[in-house]
Amino acid sequence: MVEEEVERTIEALLQERRTFAPSEEFTQQANLKDPSVYEQASSDPDAWWASQAERLHWFKKWDTVSELDPPHHTWFVGGQLNASYNCLDRHLDEHGDRVAYHWVGEPGDRRAVTYRELHEEVSRLANALKDLGVTKGDRVAIYLPMVPELPAAMLACARIGAAHSVVFGGFSAESLRDRINDAECKVLITADGSYRRGQTVPLKENADEALRDCPSIEKVVVVQRTKDDVNMVEGRDLVYRNLVSDAPSECEAEPMDSEDMLYILYTSGTTGKPKGIVHTTGGYLTGVASTHFNIFDIKPETDVYWCAADIGWVTGHSYIVYGPLANGCTSILYEGAPDWPEKNRWWSIIEEHKATILYTAPTAIRSFMKWGTEWPQRHDLSSLRLLGSVGEPINPEAWIWYQEFIGGGRTPVVDTWWQTETGAIMISPLPGVTTLKPGSATVPYPGVSADVVDEQGKPVGPDGGGYLVLKRPVPSMFRTIFGDDQRYRETYFGRYGDEIYFPGDGAKLDDDGYFWLLGRVDDVMNIAGHRISTYEVESALVDHPSVAEAAVVGRNDPKEGETIVAFVTAKSGSEGGEDLMQELRNHVAKVIGKLARPHSIVFTDDLPKTRSGKIMRRLLKDVAEGRELGDVTTLQNAPILDDIRTKAASLHADE
Ligand code: PRX
Repeated sequence: MVEEEVERTIEALLQERRTFAPSEEFTQQANLKDPSVYEQASSDPDAWWASQAERLHWFKKWDTVSELDPPHHTWFVGGQLNASYNCLDRHLDEHGDRVAYHWVGEPGDRRAVTYRELHEEVSRLANALKDLGVTKGDRVAIYLPMVPELPAAMLACARIGAAHSVVFGGFSAESLRDRINDAECKVLITADGSYRRGQTVPLKENADEALRDCPSIEKVVVVQRTKDDVNMVEGRDLVYRNLVSDAPSECEAEPMDSEDMLYILYTSGTTGKPKGIVHTTGGYLTGVASTHFNIFDIKPETDVYWCAADIGWVTGHSYIVYGPLANGCTSILYEGAPDWPEKNRWWSIIEEHKATILYTAPTAIRSFMKWGTEWPQRHDLSSLRLLGSVGEPINPEAWIWYQEFIGGGRTPVVDTWWQTETGAIMISPLPGVTTLKPGSATVPYPGVSADVVDEQGKPVGPDGGGYLVLKRPVPSMFRTIFGDDQRYRETYFGRYGDEIYFPGDGAKLDDDGYFWLLGRVDDVMNIAGHRISTYEVESALVDHPSVAEAAVVGRNDPKEGETIVAFVTAKSGSEGGEDLMQELRNHVAKVIGKLARPHSIVFTDDLPKTRSGKIMRRLLKDVAEGRELGDVTTLQNAPILDDIRTKAASLHADE
């Protein structure tokens, strides 16, 4: 379809302000089709969550469903289970030969891994880890590309009761080091390298750099992905494949208490130090298995499900590894970039594997929109029956495009709101029940109690805007921040008291009680669906010898999503030009990772400050987004704003 036509179609659809009731056909076959589930779950949440926990195999059943001691809470107390057993062993008798992952490597290599094969690999690796001295309660860092060894490594840890801490492969050596040290990990599982847009990413080199300063690491296990020659430290570094082949293939899954830690996953907060989000076993697994089954309407026998996130983020933990495997379904696992070797890569994968469900982020959808409809139109995507979105608010235009050009105008689109902290989806349609409104994540999942409140915590009611809150804990919610419970209390319960969880998002309720997410209200940016704090980027910038001061803001644009804009004062003697700009972008990539590189850098002689010297980021955000400036009365150096505005004019040149 030619671009103009596409635009006309989207405009027409938007103007209709259509809502999308589930088709009768979809509802009839849906896993959840009875709307009374909402009422039942809210009148007795414990009974609802207990019914969902029954999806799992428990070695020992729980004594109590929940014990609330705000702001702390525990679930399925007294119960024992093992996540790896639930994801693997219990499927073997009936469908051990079902494919767990159709893996597609970026260069074009492929592997289908069945549940039986994954079970054997995990058992062998679990034995190997035990041999290396890893025991229950230890932490293991994992820094791997999207290869089948990554879920295997996570499940091997879970099998023996060690907590994994997966660090996204796009993070730098320094980020890896900080995360390893915070959790005092004993072993690191990494790879020689990974493929990205035809290039190799030197993971082992990064790992070696990180490990110069990681005293807790005793052994390093190296997956040979690229087969590049890498440095192997005698006595410390071991080849993954040799370890696995040499280890016995039987390994009993360790019975874990429901509240035993399953994993730590780091996420950005408003300070420089990332937070180690702690998830436990029984509640987390219950939440991800339940939401995955009901929201994606999973039919394990027939669906080919693809969550295109990276396992390094919570979306991958919950909806590539634990949810899908707990439900025994077949997934696609793709290693590389969506535009390699061409911009139709995803669509060719969907056609080849006859994928039925696709779950991705608005940032990807917007890229596809930019690349044009000719790429998906080259392929038969008629196998798709459901689409999902996650990570940031989806603009109605992208929603409609997604449904029309990827879903063939037929599929429901479930926009799912949740966070690393909540572990599982909290606000989302049920595709067989909920009438969809493009741009809205619709309503809380059964058993989830959410509201929108004002500064004082008073509900804003229909049509009101304010802060999103969760009013009752749910099983999948994190338990604490690793090693820093005080920060847990202050960050999430400091605002409205111990009973009310504050996720940091703004939201609006419409007349039908639908939730419209409005983005973060703190200093956390959402860059291509990834959380980065302004503070982290500022710290990286001022760490450069030519930078005197830096202030970072996220620039929001409904079409582009959020991008990082840095306002930088160079040290005297340094020239704030194109060269320094490139150098600073590279520097941030080195310190944090490429994902945190500022999109634009504006050099200025000074930053707007209050009389007490506090930088007024709010005004810089106004400048970045091309708005009228807010209140400037407390500003000590008002004239600098005119200067900054002139310099920042190029940010809006193409609007
Ligand atoms: O601001 C919300 C946004 O992403 C944040 C959580 O980021 P993270 O912990 O990295 O997890 C991302 C994947 C679950 C939230 O606080 N967010 C996530 N999903 C949505 C969203 N914003 C709007 N709509 C969504 N569907």
